[in-house]
Amino acid sequence: MQKKYVLVGTGGRAEFFYGALVRDFKETSRLVAFCDINQTRMNYANQLLEEKYHHAKINTYLANEFDQMIAKEKPDIVIVTTVDRTHHKYIIRALELGCDVITEKPMTTDAEKTQAIIDAINRTGNQVRVTFNYRYAPHNTKIRELIRDGVIGEVYSVNFEWALDTQHGADYFRRWHRNKANSGGLLVHKSTHHFDLVNFWLDTSPDTVYATGGLRFYGRENAEARGETKFYQRAHGSKQAETDPFAIQLADNPHLKAMYLDAEKEDGYQRDQSVFGDGINIEDTLGVMVTYKNKAILTYSLNAYLPWEGFIVSFNGSKGRIEVQVREHSYINSGGSKSDEGKLAEKSVRVLPMFGEPYEVEIVEGEGGHGGGDPLLLQDLFGLPEEDEFNRAASHIDGATSILTGIAGNLSLQTGQPVKVDHLIDFNKVK
Ligand SMILES: NC(=O)c1ccc[n+]([C@@H]2O[C@H](COP(=O)([O-])OP(=O)(O)OC[C@H]3O[C@@H](n4cnc5c(N)ncnc54)[C@H](O)[C@@H]3O)[C@@H](O)[C@H]2O)c1
Repeated sequence: MQKKYVLVGTGGRAEFFYGALVRDFKETSRLVAFCDINQTRMNYANQLLEEKYHHAKINTYLANEFDQMIAKEKPDIVIVTTVDRTHHKYIIRALELGCDVITEKPMTTDAEKTQAIIDAINRTGNQVRVTFNYRYAPHNTKIRELIRDGVIGEVYSVNFEWALDTQHGADYFRRWHRNKANSGGLLVHKSTHHFDLVNFWLDTSPDTVYATGGLRFYGRENAEARGETKFYQRAHGSKQAETDPFAIQLADNPHLKAMYLDAEKEDGYQRDQSVFGDGINIEDTLGVMVTYKNKAILTYSLNAYLPWEGFIVSFNGSKGRIEVQVREHSYINSGGSKSDEGKLAEKSVRVLPMFGEPYEVEIVEGEGGHGGGDPLLLQDLFGLPEEDEFNRAASHIDGATSILTGIAGNLSLQTGQPVKVDHLIDFNKVK
């Protein structure tokens, strides 16, 4: 039977879902409406539906008409791809109005909103899924398999370094993410992927978190300290920005122009702010230590201004070590093809037995974004149900445990103290 979908938040990420729904999952799914605060962006999404996907336009509703949309369109599932700060609002209302929810990561941005989502799930009995595409990347699934099968015995410690580059990493500092109230900072917005991977790989959940870090590279004060004297607020129309390698020119890219520049008149949102401007209050340099319920420890770092993008992770266990290096192609959100997002440039997964020859693990990567994980995630979300020995479909509990590491990290940044994750929300209420 076909399921009916509506989507709220028609920005850069939305097409990943609505495009797949109307192109690849016609038998199982029907997309019936868009919702957003911005009519111009919804109209552009409808234009893409017609021109790129040869699909008829669908109804559009402004954000304050969300309830009317649910009453009229009667969807089974609401897809939430709005600004992070607003996820909980749509998740909770959709559940209350009898729908299931598929939400983009991070599920939400703080402990109070996490609790409110969990309470709504318990109250309504409806479901929330979080779209952790990285779990589905074949190399990440393979790491889970190696650890699950005891190839390096019990894992005692993990070293995990995530590198964001001067294109994609910088993009968080041009957009709404630069305000912590919108995104929870990179420890929540971005690291939710990474903390979810550790939970998934080790099949455990976080116990205690200590974090340190700050804004060291981006932001006006840092640029001034490095001797910069000329500044601009946004790239569009700025002479200054023409020579700034960190600037993005919305008018030069028809997709970015239609989605953001032409839509500004409605909500004032500027997607091309200077990364060396005022008002950035998220960190770009982060170090985190986590102790897990199974006693494993994690040392993690995230830096957002590096010459390459990807990650290096090593696992130390009772029978040996696994070393992984994955380099991704650089991209900026909505700046190119969806299938280029997180596309692999190179990867290596090496097992070093405690007493034996090290060997490279063969991994067949798939086509598509995030190392071939994106098409697999879409199949799992919208295709016919299939058994998955790795249980990659992420529930609200996975959504909560991954953000709570970052939320605890944010508290630790404020207080300088380690934070117990169990103190953040009422886990007795988590079913
Ligand atoms: N898993 C991934 O790889 C991945 C990649 C990119 C983005 N994302 C997630 O997708 C979500 C959207 O990110 P994006 O890059 O598309 O951002 P975006 O800025 O391009 O789009 C956000 C959309 O939300 C709308 N919006 C803002 N406030 C709203 C409100 N109160 N009510 C309804 N709509 C509102 C905006 O008008 C805009 O259309 C974020 O949660 C982000 O974390 C995930």
